[in-house]
Amino acid sequence: MENERGKWNSNFIFILAAVGSAIGMGNLWGFPYKMGANGGLPFLLIYFVMVVLCGVVCMCVEMAIGRKTGKSPIEAIGGLARRWKIVGWFGALSATIIMGFYSMLIGYALRYFVGFLVQIFGVGGFAGAASGADFFVAFTQNPGAVLLYTAITFLICSLFVMFGTSGLEKFNKIGIPGLFIILIAIIIYNLTLPGALNGYVFMFSSKGMEIAGTSFNFLKAVRTAGGQMLFSLSLGMGAMITYGSYLDKKESIARSAWIIPVLDTVASVFAGMAIFPAVFAMGQDVKAGPGLLYITMHNVFTTMGVAGNVIGALFYLLIIFAGVSSAISLMEVTTSAIIDGRTAKGKKSSRKGVTFAVALIMFILSIPICLDRLGLAGGEGAMWPLYSFLGAGSQDLLDLYDMVTEGLMMPLGALLMCVLVGWKLGFATVRDEVLADGRKWKLEKFFEVCVKYITPVIMAFVLVSLFLSYFGL
Ligand code: PHE
Repeated sequence: MENERGKWNSNFIFILAAVGSAIGMGNLWGFPYKMGANGGLPFLLIYFVMVVLCGVVCMCVEMAIGRKTGKSPIEAIGGLARRWKIVGWFGALSATIIMGFYSMLIGYALRYFVGFLVQIFGVGGFAGAASGADFFVAFTQNPGAVLLYTAITFLICSLFVMFGTSGLEKFNKIGIPGLFIILIAIIIYNLTLPGALNGYVFMFSSKGMEIAGTSFNFLKAVRTAGGQMLFSLSLGMGAMITYGSYLDKKESIARSAWIIPVLDTVASVFAGMAIFPAVFAMGQDVKAGPGLLYITMHNVFTTMGVAGNVIGALFYLLIIFAGVSSAISLMEVTTSAIIDGRTAKGKKSSRKGVTFAVALIMFILSIPICLDRLGLAGGEGAMWPLYSFLGAGSQDLLDLYDMVTEGLMMPLGALLMCVLVGWKLGFATVRDEVLADGRKWKLEKFFEVCVKYITPVIMAFVLVSLFLSYFGL
């Protein structure tokens, strides 16, 4: 990926790696179900605004911090302002908690991949389940199986992190275009399903809420879209600082800060276009929640007959690629934080040992989620005693981990990074770094106003909205 200690071999490879981190379960699993639960089109519009006014801006800030300091997040932020180091540690903590549920979601995809793969050979891969929903419930209610697939996910990711990520480049080169192609193929196939067009009405028309029978709560949509945007773009916790630290001075941050969010957003919208038409064609509910991706796509592949097994296996394989390349960047944030801390104290870096320890902690965090069975067991999940103090608003542990990270820690991280460079250090920190490539920066003023005022205010609003949700708003 990078030669010796240092630089990406080309801007293309940098973009590929950053897009590999950005596109993942957040786009395929998170975006459609959150859009479904938040009224469709209004959520999409809020999301677009968030990407432009916060996503692109934070991407630029993080890449500039990374390239300026050439360090991983904790050392980078600590080097700029010693007492702000905590923001970096916060990021490492977010990454650890996210992996607690992210690994399980990849584990689900792994189970579906295996299911379709064995069906190619005529073996019943889904244990005779009558529908996608039946299988999803049966599988998620079996904590042993979920744990097994989650553990395999950790094994795969740890090997990458332990032995360096150079293999990842080839993986991304095939995986990212492959994912786009299969999503487009599914979007086209969906057009043959009766009733599918309502999916587009839901996504792109003001009549969407009516036909889907959903409602819209502005505060909830804003906090959900804000968190989802940061999560999807791997922002607010330092992953993009790490990527920027390997970026050559002659490459354009100004351009990359747009390219990555645009590609990521296209991927999310494509995921919606693959899922929602099928939801309507199969008479499912757009508000189905976290199972939406798995259940709906399972049903779509079933309608394709034998070919569905091959396409289904390929689809889930590509999701696993996308998920693993994001998971690796999550693990890398925590691992590099600890390695940097050790080297600063004059200890040996011990990459393998640290990776093992980090993977183990993350796996331990994932156990209660796997055992919680998505809270399906009668409303309050099996792990209810662990989070009952939150009240009935949090119905399962996956929701809780998700809320703590993308709802609280990432917006806070993004807010603090903007305040740090916009106010404490001064916008020149970002400006000088962006201009280091020798090109003109046409949108400099826009970025300055956003970093100082607009982005922090929106992030603060997202946090206030989360706070208000405790009061049922
Ligand atoms: N952006 C990834 C996704 O959408 C998740 C992620 C978050 C990866 C934060 C790295 C850091 O799936």
